[in-house]
Amino acid sequence: MKNLIVANWKMNPNSQKEAKEIFDAIREGVRGLKSEVVVCPPSVYLYASIFGEGVVAMGAQNIYFEDKGAFTGEISALMLKDLGVTYTIIGHSERRKYFGETDETVNKKIKKALETGIKVIICIGETAEERDAGKKNEVLERQIKQGLAGITDLTNINIAYEPVWAIGTGNNCDVAEAKEAINFIKSVIGSTTVGSVVPENFRVLYGGSVKSENSGSYIKEAGANGLLVGGASLKADEFVKIVQSAE
Ligand code: 13P
Repeated sequence: MKNLIVANWKMNPNSQKEAKEIFDAIREGVRGLKSEVVVCPPSVYLYASIFGEGVVAMGAQNIYFEDKGAFTGEISALMLKDLGVTYTIIGHSERRKYFGETDETVNKKIKKALETGIKVIICIGETAEERDAGKKNEVLERQIKQGLAGITDLTNINIAYEPVWAIGTGNNCDVAEAKEAINFIKSVIGSTTVGSVVPENFRVLYGGSVKSENSGSYIKEAGANGLLVGGASLKADEFVKIVQSAE
């Protein structure tokens, strides 16, 4: 199974010129490496001429769950598919926190992405308060079960474990703790989808203050099948080192 290394640029950078420079450097840096690499820029930069030829897959940071119509400001899965997008992040904690994303909207978006032929990276993770209150597993289980409600074939689904307290803080999750969470997520996936299609190579990624100094340990010690990288993915050489660490 290939590791899946995903760059989430969030709302950066501020110009096409910078975006192209980072893309070009990432594309050349990861060429020939074994992992599957996906870059998720702001949607205005999702066009093939900036991405170049297929070494790096195009990913969106979000989609809307309706096909078309009076939904000002939204972008449909069909539009993204037409641009050549093959992956989308769904349910990032920043979308849950600032844009009212719920397990219910996450569920609708996953269904729409799959129906459209776009693979998904679902983000789940507990806040510091939930962790301190001993509710981590409860939160993860709820986000998985409600997010995947009614979905039986998990072939094109990946889950990213992103503890909210580890995002953008420099306070990356301890490897042992990440390992425990990844195993727990895999056990929930195994149990909730009895009778349905869970691929043997179902991938669980880790995200939250990933840097090249810690990235390899999530793959090699915590058992993550990939990484979801925020800040460090905007520095091409650092991101390339992260991809190399997963070889
Ligand atoms: P950082 O890598 O900046 O902590 O962000 C993680 C993240 O939210 C990726 O989706």
